[in-house]
Amino acid sequence: MAERVMPELDRFAIGFDERDRQRLHALWDEAIASQRWSEGTLTARFEEAWSAWNGIGSVAFGGWTGAALAALEFAGVRGETVLVPSNTFMATPLAAVHAGARVEFVDCNREDLCMSFASLEAAVAEHRPRAVILVHIGGHIAFDAERIAELCRAEGIFLLEDCAHAHGASWNGRRPGTYGDAGAWSFYATKTVSTGEGGMLVARDPELLAFARAFRNYGKPEHEVAGLNFRLSEFTAALGVVQTERMEEIVAWKNAAARRHLDPAHPGRLELPEGMVSGLYKYIVFDPVERSTGKVYDVPCHRIMGSHAVLPNADWVAENHWCVPLYYRP
Ligand SMILES: Cc1ncc(COP(=O)(O)O)c(C=O)c1O
Repeated sequence: MAERVMPELDRFAIGFDERDRQRLHALWDEAIASQRWSEGTLTARFEEAWSAWNGIGSVAFGGWTGAALAALEFAGVRGETVLVPSNTFMATPLAAVHAGARVEFVDCNREDLCMSFASLEAAVAEHRPRAVILVHIGGHIAFDAERIAELCRAEGIFLLEDCAHAHGASWNGRRPGTYGDAGAWSFYATKTVSTGEGGMLVARDPELLAFARAFRNYGKPEHEVAGLNFRLSEFTAALGVVQTERMEEIVAWKNAAARRHLDPAHPGRLELPEGMVSGLYKYIVFDPVERSTGKVYDVPCHRIMGSHAVLPNADWVAENHWCVPLYYRP
């Protein structure tokens, strides 16, 4: 039998499956006919589909920011300290800043690029934060997620998970966003599952979900919540419905392609613990590679924001990891 040709893993492709085109167009026709182009049935269906996968309640947003701000506002961080990892996108600390909080940075582990429990424990004792943001960097779940969630619960600290990279991930069946009090997802144009722009807040607490729903739309109807416009259009929600239904397949395809085509060439890759599945937003290696999409992040946020925190692992990670291209192309 002829050897299967390696697909073009290294040319950027949005994780959209051509087989979904017709269905998407049918949903868009539905939206046009509905005469309701925002906060309608497609937004509700996207939320239901996301909840079915994520396992807890969902509120759709126009992007990650709205979801994160709703959670931070609900947590009451104004005038308080929020701890964030330094190895993340600037969206993470900036959301806390715009929610009126002081930001302090926490170091990461070299093994998973995510927040270190030991560094967090020390920062909690020093800064007594109101909230912590845990970022699942790269597509896997932070290895210290369980211990971090336990610590936050014990100390009465609100834990927000930044799930912007973690579509399709699980750890012994448990999904990102279910460790803490809330999770914020992004469906930005480069993500494993994308709607171009879009976001989702996930949470168990019905009060937080109701708060988020009001926050998304200027606090309507009671105006007890000082939200702004973070609504999602029904056309984008339609994309969310088909993308969510396709997500498991996208992630399975990326994992199969990684095992078959990338793992043999990259022994120095990021290794996952038993029982964890990564959505493989990024395929991370610790040796320089010729064909790389670069770093997840080149400069740690504490450096960008001029913080004097001493975070050796965040600095090490910025220097010592690379991403091998891996894009869904079935
Ligand atoms: C870790 C992280 N958090 C937050 C965001 C912000 O998401 P959005 O682009 O939907 O605002 C991104 C990237 O887009 C991200 O990578």
